[in-house]
Amino acid sequence: MRELPVAKDWIGLDFGCGHAHLIQLMASRMRLVFGFDSGPNQIGIAENNTSGMPNVIIRRLSAPPPSFHVPRFDLIFVNSVVELMNDDELDRWLQWWTGSLSGRGALVISDVMPQKNDRLRSFIESLSWGFRQGCLLGYCYEYFLMMKAGFFREQAFCRDSDELLLRISRSGGRGRLLRRNLDFLTTRYAVMAVKDSRSPVP
Ligand SMILES: C[S@@+](CC[C@H](N)C(=O)[O-])C[C@H]1O[C@@H](n2cnc3c(N)ncnc32)[C@H](O)[C@@H]1O
Repeated sequence: MRELPVAKDWIGLDFGCGHAHLIQLMASRMRLVFGFDSGPNQIGIAENNTSGMPNVIIRRLSAPPPSFHVPRFDLIFVNSVVELMNDDELDRWLQWWTGSLSGRGALVISDVMPQKNDRLRSFIESLSWGFRQGCLLGYCYEYFLMMKAGFFREQAFCRDSDELLLRISRSGGRGRLLRRNLDFLTTRYAVMAVKDSRSPVP
């Protein structure tokens, strides 16, 4: 987040906001921040975690609305979400995201799983992140709960950056690969896109 160019008068969206950890940071640096998620439990926790923050709006959305968002977003951040979407879902959201960007807006999709996903390295990096943050035990417990809930049995839709960038260009955006992932795993990657003014997609 600290790597992103943001300004105080911006309007942001954290898509797939989960428990809204990132929104709390975004809201301290932007005028207005929306958090969308499809999970009812996540929405409840996100609302709880952001209660008392007047510039945050949390909404439950499970499919793209028929029209683009008003007001337009200056930053749409999608972290650790697209691997949960099949191709059709991703394409529909990409169109909505790029169409809902303001003229100066950027879409950042981060923590994307490539086809060759080094699970062992990801696991070791996760443990060492938990250790550095001083929450290794809590992290292991969360991991255990996720395993128990069958999270790792769910299908993950892995995509290489070439494929994601192609999908972005088909949806009316112009994207590029960032030098590094914006979340802590080095086994994943991030891209940034803007609306392509030459694109025939509205
Ligand atoms: C791994 S969590 C990431 C949460 C948060 N972005 C973060 O980085 O901490 C994935 C989140 O995406 C949400 N999600 C998955 N598919 C979604 C969809 N189609 N529309 C909206 N939210 C979705 C899930 O409910 C979950 O909260």
